[in-house]
Amino acid sequence: MKKDERTDNVQDKVTGRRPVRERLDKRLAQEGYGTRSEIRKAVRAGRVSVNGHTEKDPGRQITPEDEIFFDGERVGRETSVYYMLNKPAGVITATEDAAQRTVLDLLRDPVTETAEPVRRRGIFPVGRLDADTEGLLLITDDGQLAHRLLAPGRHVDKVYYALVSGAVTNEDVRLFSDGMQVGAEGSQDAFRALPAELMIVSMNGKNAAGGAEKPDGDRVPGGRSGEQAAGNTAGKEFEELRMVIPVDPGRYLSPEITEYTQTLVTIREGKYHQIKRMFAAVGKKVLYLKRLSMGPLRLDPALEPGQFRKLTEEEIRVLQG
Ligand code: URA
Repeated sequence: MKKDERTDNVQDKVTGRRPVRERLDKRLAQEGYGTRSEIRKAVRAGRVSVNGHTEKDPGRQITPEDEIFFDGERVGRETSVYYMLNKPAGVITATEDAAQRTVLDLLRDPVTETAEPVRRRGIFPVGRLDADTEGLLLITDDGQLAHRLLAPGRHVDKVYYALVSGAVTNEDVRLFSDGMQVGAEGSQDAFRALPAELMIVSMNGKNAAGGAEKPDGDRVPGGRSGEQAAGNTAGKEFEELRMVIPVDPGRYLSPEITEYTQTLVTIREGKYHQIKRMFAAVGKKVLYLKRLSMGPLRLDPALEPGQFRKLTEEEIRVLQG
C-alpha cells in the first residue's frame, strides 16, 4: 500500500471525514466521475480545475479545503459535520480565544493528535455552557440546525443535572414550574423564566421517594421520584439520564456544606447563567452543573469529560426531525 493511501484510510475510519491530503484522481473516482483511468484522461485533457486553475496532474495532492471543478461542476461539497462533546470544566464555549482554551481546541484527531481534519472552518458550538459547566455540547457547521435548536420561539428542552447547596423544597419545585422572576424587576438582566421542571434526585445522598417517607427514612420534601416525570423527562428517559449523572457529588462539596440536593432541571430557553440564577432566586447555590440532553440528543455516557465523537446517522436524523 502506498503511503498516502495508508494515511487516508486511517483518517477516514477515525473521523469519518475526508483525509487531510489525497490524490486528485482518487478523490474524483470516489465522487463518481469515472474510473481512475478515465479520470486521468479527463484531467490531462484540462477538464478539471483546482482553486480556479486548470490542473493537468491527476496525482496532485489535494485537501478538503481545495475547490475542485469537473467540467465546470463543483465537486463534492462536503455535507455538514456534527460532533457531541462532553465539555469539561475549565474551557470556554467559544470558537477562539487569545487567552483561554476553547471547546474547539478539544476537537483533535485521536490518532494523529492534530486539529485537522476534525476541526474545520465554520464549525461552532450550538449554545453556550459556562466555563465551569460540564456536559453535552453539540458542535457543527449546520447553521440551520443550530437555529432550529436555539431560536427563542422553539423552546427546546435542555436537561441539566444540578448539585445545589441546601435542601430543595416543595416550594422551590412550584416556583420553578410556575415560571419565576429572575433578578429584580426592571433591572437590565432580569427576566421571567418560562416554566421549568425541577426534580429532586436525592438529598444528602438519599434517593428521592416521591415525597413519601419510606421505611428506611428516605424522604424528599415534595420531590418527584425518578419513576415520575421531570417535565418531559419521564420513566425510561430518566433512567437513561441517570447514567450520565455524576456518581460522586462528594467531589464538589466543601466541608462547610451540611446539606445538599441533587436535582434534574429541564429548561426551555437559554438565558445567561439561567440555572444558577434560578437557584440563586430561591436561595441555593449551584455547586456543580452538567448538561445531560438537548432536545432529543443525549450525552453519551461513554464520553469522559473532554472526549467527543461524531453523531450517529440516527442522532442526526432525529435532531433534524
Ligand atoms: N445555566 C447556567 O447557569 N449555566 C450554564 O452553563 C447553563 C445553564
